[in-house]
Amino acid sequence: MARAEKVGVSQAKMAYRGLRDWLEQVDRMGELLRVSGVHWDREMGAMTQMLTESSKGMAPAILFDEVPGYPQGFRTLYGQFSSIKRVALTLGLPLEYERKVDIVKAYHGRMQNMALVKPKVVKQGPILDHVLEGDKVDVLKFPVPLHHELDKSRYLGTADLVITKDPDSDWYNLGAYRCQVYDGKTIGCQITEGKHGRIHRDTYFERGQNVKVVVVCGQDPLLYMLSASPLPKGVSEYDFAGGIRGEPIEVVQGPYTGFPIPADAEIAVEGEMIPGQVKPEGPFGEWMGYYSDDVVPRPYINVKTVLYRDHPILTCAPQHKPVDETGLLKGIAGAAEIWKALEACGLPDILGVWNHEGGPATRFTVIQIRQRYPGHARNVLHVAANCSAGAYNGKWTVVVDDDIDCSDIDQVLWAMSTRFDPVADIDVVQKAWSSGRDPMYLPGNFNNRILIDACIPYDRKLKGKFSTVVDVSPELRAKLKAKWSSIFAKYAV
Ligand SMILES: Cc1cc2nc3c(=O)[nH]c(=O)nc-3n(C[C@H](O)[C@H](O)[C@H](O)COP(=O)(O)O)c2cc1C
Repeated sequence: MARAEKVGVSQAKMAYRGLRDWLEQVDRMGELLRVSGVHWDREMGAMTQMLTESSKGMAPAILFDEVPGYPQGFRTLYGQFSSIKRVALTLGLPLEYERKVDIVKAYHGRMQNMALVKPKVVKQGPILDHVLEGDKVDVLKFPVPLHHELDKSRYLGTADLVITKDPDSDWYNLGAYRCQVYDGKTIGCQITEGKHGRIHRDTYFERGQNVKVVVVCGQDPLLYMLSASPLPKGVSEYDFAGGIRGEPIEVVQGPYTGFPIPADAEIAVEGEMIPGQVKPEGPFGEWMGYYSDDVVPRPYINVKTVLYRDHPILTCAPQHKPVDETGLLKGIAGAAEIWKALEACGLPDILGVWNHEGGPATRFTVIQIRQRYPGHARNVLHVAANCSAGAYNGKWTVVVDDDIDCSDIDQVLWAMSTRFDPVADIDVVQKAWSSGRDPMYLPGNFNNRILIDACIPYDRKLKGKFSTVVDVSPELRAKLKAKWSSIFAKYAV
């Protein structure tokens, strides 16, 4: 059964500044693994998968150094967000929690009434330590990995942020989109239909204009996290990060694009996409754990400048069969946005939202509610599955009662197995927003998805007519815990 919640909204200031400080803190928490001598050619990606897949949220962040063929200090970082503690550190939230969903609750609380803070332009920053232009441009200066065994190319951008500008306003969007390396001066950029960067790009192309773009691949983990989150249209991840941080993000102006680039970033690549210029992109091991997408021609970036700081860290997130190092990142940020959307639609008594790591993430969403009226559960299901944070590539949306911890998969399965009727409690949404990343996508890139009402039927709940749950009462729990504290402490219950 769900227990009392411990985590409230943190008023604390962010406990770190930038990626390097974050790494020091993670090291102090005992969650950083430093490894030397691992090869960029499939070894780093495979080692990350092996350390993460069955770690149950305990995998370390992995900093690889002395990569064969590269100078010492040219490092890569994998697995930034494979523990909830590291997600909490990044968002400035308490590090301890009782239920996993408590962190979504705390993040959701933090976002209430949060003012956006615009970035501050500064003249200098470590990202300008080295500026390569013209013939000197070479993205393979860094130990860019071949992540998965069946990939055919190295990918510079995975745990990155791609900056594009809205052609009609000052909105700079930051999105994590993958970037294949074709050669030292040419990289890909796969942006799925409907994503903000894609809408920006396509709008320029429709007008016959080139698209300026910056790919940052080594940055404050908060910026990366927000770049991979479904923030609303028109909201810059810079402003949102400033709001969370309580102070502006410092940026320098890119020498080629003039775009704001985080002043303390590790590596940034500026360039341009030209309408009609395409190259085959992929194959790449996808986030759902398959090689599901076809290799298709996609626009690419002509690289104009390469900026990097001394001893740069290339951040990576190859993704693979669950559980992977991005499940929590996508899950927590996405769940908080779904929660926000449910409340914005006026739906009462939302107690929790969790995207399950094994789904992965947004493929399996569970919402916990206190039922208030007949039809409440169905209301919640349809909004959660169709709001912009829940719509992309969802598959299962489940609603459970207040006594079920939505972040505990065993409790969710119990509710689905005992409070659910297959004839009455399923709705299906057809032709929903999907992409080639889904191995079950339908012609036209749609998918179908399932909504499961696993709440006790409202009228039976109201009349107290549902079977009584076999459980230990809170009073007896407290009494036994007090009396036999050493036993309960040993077994951590
Ligand atoms: C490691 C990682 C890699 C990702 N790669 C891509 C990608 O190649 N293309 C894409 O469209 N989305 C990708 N995503 C998902 C987007 O970053 C996410 O949908 C984000 O909300 C997009 O930003 P936007 O909403 O501003 O467009 C990736 C996410 C992560 C965590």
